[in-house]
Amino acid sequence: MKALVYKGPGKKAIEDRPIPDIAAPTDAIVKIVKTTICGTDLHILKGDMPTCAPGRILGHEGIGVIETVGSAVTGFRTGDRVIVSCISSCGKCDYCRRGMYSHCIDGGWILGNKIDGTQAEYVRIPFADTSLYRIPAGADEEALVMLSDILPTGFECGVLNGKVQPGSTVAIVGAGPIGLAALLTSQFYSPAAIIVIDLDDNRLQISANLGATTVINNNDGKAVDKIMKMTGGRGVDTAVEAVGVPASFITCEDIVAPGGVIANIGVHGVKADLHLERLWDRNIAITTRLVDTVSTPMLLKTVQSRKIDPTRLITHHFKLNTIMDAYDTFDAAAKTNALKVIIDA
Ligand SMILES: NC(=O)c1ccc[n+]([C@@H]2O[C@H](COP(=O)([O-])OP(=O)(O)OC[C@H]3O[C@@H](n4cnc5c(N)ncnc54)[C@H](O)[C@@H]3O)[C@@H](O)[C@H]2O)c1
Ligand SMILES: [Zn+2]
Ligand SMILES: [Zn+2]
Repeated sequence: MKALVYKGPGKKAIEDRPIPDIAAPTDAIVKIVKTTICGTDLHILKGDMPTCAPGRILGHEGIGVIETVGSAVTGFRTGDRVIVSCISSCGKCDYCRRGMYSHCIDGGWILGNKIDGTQAEYVRIPFADTSLYRIPAGADEEALVMLSDILPTGFECGVLNGKVQPGSTVAIVGAGPIGLAALLTSQFYSPAAIIVIDLDDNRLQISANLGATTVINNNDGKAVDKIMKMTGGRGVDTAVEAVGVPASFITCEDIVAPGGVIANIGVHGVKADLHLERLWDRNIAITTRLVDTVSTPMLLKTVQSRKIDPTRLITHHFKLNTIMDAYDTFDAAAKTNALKVIIDA
């Protein structure tokens, strides 16, 4: 089969690989129908993720059809159409029993990281019963690719951790796919204002189309002043960090209102300053989270009932044999206006 393989920092290639076999009775082999590329795949290619060794097939998102199941899998059989979750969970360990699948002792974020991933014709999924989700008949399958990672990430790490509430004020720093997923899912709770901050006018225009009440381009460095003015000097109840650099985290520190929450989503590669000398008396909370994907079944219902339409985040389509072009397009988002690229296997 064809697969996109990480070859070490800065290097990747399409290679021929054997179709994976069942390795444990709880495994399933899934024939990939559609996959996509995540910003985290670009982090791996930069060499930022030492957990991912050269030779690894990348990808932790996608939908597919069950090819075979191990003898212990009871929830799925050959021919079932499924969403692959970016998080593998055994369902039995202490963390899984607490709903913290991201820290499953034998799973967590391993797909396309510690084990071969979904940017291939086939993938082996461990703990299939608790790591795959059945696709309802008649569903828009492209929309469901967004359920593997970005929708649960924006919702769990940004909206739930950020305690978005009716009438509250939310700022989302970073309008990439993850920030936009937080924008879509924050609207479940009817906040009074959703301010989106980015440096890219195209992404800000999309944010406005997707429900942001105010968009701010921070190229002039004045976003904090503008937000403080708009909120009568209070700041925002929820500041969602959806970039992963020190500057965006500090923006969140500067705009969080007393009693508010800074909900960090971004993957940070270097330290960010925590200004406790300004924050100690403000009754705030700072949360961090690796997506657990516990909200996937709920989010699936909201997509099915068209409460949210994640297909609005899809900008480009490719075939698996042109996945190198898909990476180039996704990596040059500022030029290509890419958000999510769909790759048909
Ligand atoms: N916690 C988790 O489980 C989890 C899961 C998936 C992704 N992530 C992380 O979430 C982050 C966002 O992912 P993405 O795919 O949307 O990334 P992305 O790179 O597509 O988007 C980031 C956006 O931030 C903007 N930006 C950059 N610097 C800024 C600044 N100082 N102020 C405001 N905006 C700024 C960029 O213009 C861009 O639009 C990444 O760090 C990613 O690795 C975390
Ligand atoms: Zn991802
Ligand atoms: Zn577990």
